[in-house]
Amino acid sequence: MFTDRVLSGMRPTGRMHLGHYHGALKNWVRLQEEYECLYFAADWHALTTHYDEPEAIAESVWEMFIDWLAVGINPARATVFIQSHVPEHAELTLLLGMIAPVGWLERVPTYKDQQEKLADRDLSTYGFLGYPVMQGADILVYRANMVPVGEDQVSHLELVRELARRFNHLYGRESGFEEKAKAAIKKLGSKRAKRYEQLRAAFQEQGDQAALEAARDMLDQAQNLALGDRERLFGYLEGSRRMILPEPQPLLTETPKVPGLDGQKMSKSYGNAILLREEPASITKKVRTMQTDPARVHRSDPGTPEKCPVWSLHKIYSDQARQAWVQKGCTTAGIGCLECKQPVIDAIIAEQEPIKERAQKYLDDPSLVRAIVADGCERARKLAEETMRDVREVMGLAYT
Ligand code: TRP
Ligand code: SF4
Repeated sequence: MFTDRVLSGMRPTGRMHLGHYHGALKNWVRLQEEYECLYFAADWHALTTHYDEPEAIAESVWEMFIDWLAVGINPARATVFIQSHVPEHAELTLLLGMIAPVGWLERVPTYKDQQEKLADRDLSTYGFLGYPVMQGADILVYRANMVPVGEDQVSHLELVRELARRFNHLYGRESGFEEKAKAAIKKLGSKRAKRYEQLRAAFQEQGDQAALEAARDMLDQAQNLALGDRERLFGYLEGSRRMILPEPQPLLTETPKVPGLDGQKMSKSYGNAILLREEPASITKKVRTMQTDPARVHRSDPGTPEKCPVWSLHKIYSDQARQAWVQKGCTTAGIGCLECKQPVIDAIIAEQEPIKERAQKYLDDPSLVRAIVADGCERARKLAEETMRDVREVMGLAYT
């Protein structure tokens, strides 16, 4: 249960673009090699802002999944599913809502930001205010401890951690906790029990974080423990409560910023995106007309790569030697912009070849995607159900 588990979600926005690929999906593919991973389409999240466009959801979800599979998300390694097909997310959202202070939600920076950014929509809704609670439920319902997200999501994760802490504080209390924890320590066997006590003391008396980590690792491996004892031992490391919902950590992997064709962040809604499965002619045309350093009006004007979005693409696609070629050629007006862009065009087209190839079988037979996702939803539900049994119990709902 407290083994390493990665979870991330994305709002369904249809076909994916280079920003999704380099900013998130490549990392997801890498993580699945190492960890148990769960990746989902956050369709309820889409409704928090776009509740008036329900007709867009279904198509966006399936298009998005095709691209996930096409970039190499492997359903044999990662569980791919749809949020709304796992109703436990909704149940936990509701229950977490009971203990989520409204003030915390109002202080999440994206709350006001998004309301300002999407000023054409009425976002003074309960659902929009509560959306970080739903995000918390998405994560906590799987007791996922690693959440790959972008910088913009870090404040949500912080809130989720506080919610988990509050939950454990309120519901992890039990009479005779200390005795029960001590009895659970004995069940570790004498050698591990001794080590647990030592690590716990090192953490509690000296704040030794490494000891805390080591103790958690040890508990991860102690697979013979019953669920309740496990929660007690995790909780006893740090305090006097069972740890029912572990606090998740954001996984902030260094990912390149992918500029759109106009130099702003790449986004379909800005109309500045290059999609993951585009025709070579279309890619060529888009990059050839892409924004460059505005100071470089004439071929004879030297430019500054740092002021040019094409340079950001070179940082993604070009090796050191070619980057040096760009630096020199641009700043001395030794190369023209079209010349500079060509290797980027070639690299994007080459990158997409295997992606297109993998997509083809799903395009030919959409039932394959349906089957993968149905299987993923079922797996996800089983995991979520385990957590919910515990949550219902501690919240006084497991009665007949
Ligand atoms: N809020 C995220 C976004 O807008 C998507 C999301 C929903 C998510 N639930 C999540 C991401 C849980 C990570 C974990 O991008
Ligand atoms: Fe940008 Fe390259 Fe033109 Fe310089 S030469 S302005 S880096 S496209």
